[in-house]
Amino acid sequence: MSELNQKQLLELVTSVNVAPGNARVRALVARVVGDLFKTIDELDVSADEFWKAADWLSRLGTSGQVGLITAGLGFDRLLDIRADEADERAGRSGGTPRAIEGPLYVAGAPLSKVEARLDEGNSAGEVFVMEGQVRTLAGQPVAHALIDVWHANSQGGYSHFFPGLKPYELRRRIETDAKGHYRFRTALPPGYSIPPNSPTSELFEALGRHGHRPAHVHFLVAAPGQRTLTTQVNIPGDTYIDDDFAFATRDGLIVELERGVAPAGYESLGISAPFVRSRFDFVTQPAATAGEASPAARLARVQATAGRG
Ligand SMILES: [Fe+2]
Repeated sequence: MSELNQKQLLELVTSVNVAPGNARVRALVARVVGDLFKTIDELDVSADEFWKAADWLSRLGTSGQVGLITAGLGFDRLLDIRADEADERAGRSGGTPRAIEGPLYVAGAPLSKVEARLDEGNSAGEVFVMEGQVRTLAGQPVAHALIDVWHANSQGGYSHFFPGLKPYELRRRIETDAKGHYRFRTALPPGYSIPPNSPTSELFEALGRHGHRPAHVHFLVAAPGQRTLTTQVNIPGDTYIDDDFAFATRDGLIVELERGVAPAGYESLGISAPFVRSRFDFVTQPAATAGEASPAARLARVQATAGRG
């Protein structure tokens, strides 16, 4: 092959092919590679710096922390902002705001009708009940909506990702009743941080950033004909509520806590002493397409369309 300058090399990298391939993938890769060539040249990236970054990416993949980095560098929130902007252009508004799914969803949590106990009978931590209704924009109850809920334990760990938790601990699916009602008992979760001594913490130390998320609970709310809502609510009072590592907190998603609620009426959740309660209604938009009503989380949605151009 003849000698090449940078521009000629980029043209070759982005144009040589033996088959049409996938036009969208080719366009995206050409753009990203071109931007990286430019970055390397303009910021005078050394070979050692480049290979250090390549090693970091390899270790990031092995560690399973890609989803942490996408959140921490703002990509997850970016996608939500773009979805909000698209909604605005389409004249769609109202309902509970969306918030990032995060990388720690696990499909197939145990299913309960109307109410559930997420904490597997483990009474450590403050007893917390969240309850409310799933409603449409028009205020109609959404009967038999499916609420998938998941959150971290007192050490900030999620089941399936953190040692010491049972499968699906602090994860449940709850089907609302005919009037859209749900409620669940759990332990009031604390905030958590990115794992220390990990590829993610290495980068955040180098950036001079913290890796803390304020206390929150994740939800995926789905019902036939309704647009699936991926969101999370924040527990008030957390130091990092306005300084979230993942930039995910939003107005309208900070719940109010009532402390010292009398236990009467909550016996079926094993409650016999005053507890902390939050009432929160999920308001869903009508689905514009069948796909919008899919109850699948992000990875399952991607896998369902894998291989399609
Ligand atoms: Fe989380």
